[in-house]
Amino acid sequence: MSGSDVASADPLEFVHRWIAPGNPALPTLLLLHGTAGNEDDLLPLGERLLPDAGRLAPRGRVLERGMPRFFRRLAEGVFDLDDLRRRTDELATFVGQAAGRYGFDPRRVVAVGFSNGANIAASVLLQQPGVLAGAVLFRAMVPFEPEPLPRLADAPVLLSEGRYDPIVSEDEAGRLASLLDRAGARVTLRWQDAGHGLTPADIGDAARWLRESSGFVL
Ligand code: MLT
Repeated sequence: MSGSDVASADPLEFVHRWIAPGNPALPTLLLLHGTAGNEDDLLPLGERLLPDAGRLAPRGRVLERGMPRFFRRLAEGVFDLDDLRRRTDELATFVGQAAGRYGFDPRRVVAVGFSNGANIAASVLLQQPGVLAGAVLFRAMVPFEPEPLPRLADAPVLLSEGRYDPIVSEDEAGRLASLLDRAGARVTLRWQDAGHGLTPADIGDAARWLRESSGFVL
């Protein structure tokens, strides 16, 4: 598998949607879709997870046989690490630029990612600590193993994984939880009776976690 870029004049620009917050005291949600998704996919999910929060939803800039992704892969679960590094930096830069453009607080951005979107969110946490205040990661894998470990300063991270996921094994999810924990994140790992797809339980648990446990909503 390989991929080409979604055309854009500015290498740091992403096709994206921005929904201004109804309540600016809430953190901004950075919504990151899965393979073959787009900038519209997770907007309703964001609204259900944290109503009235600002929502920034970019479209992945890599095309794999016409399907948008956030970084290239060589095969299922085998990532192109050079491309991942570059795309992670691009996304981090885009978030900073969007904060300036739309006037949200860059220190209060919480990623919500599904599958490929969760993997690039985990990569931003590990490669660019400080860009995300925390994350909700649905069906995430270990994007890469950082050496040395970054310092995630107690950043709250929810991992919502599927017990019967044919793509993300229990071992893989456990390794990601342990990696983030060793880097200093405050990790909550939830197992759903589910495969790779999202279920109502994922959404309910994540909404509760955001409101009651993450510390983002005062
Ligand atoms: C996907 O299909 O998106 C994979 O399972 C995750 C990835 O490639 O990042």
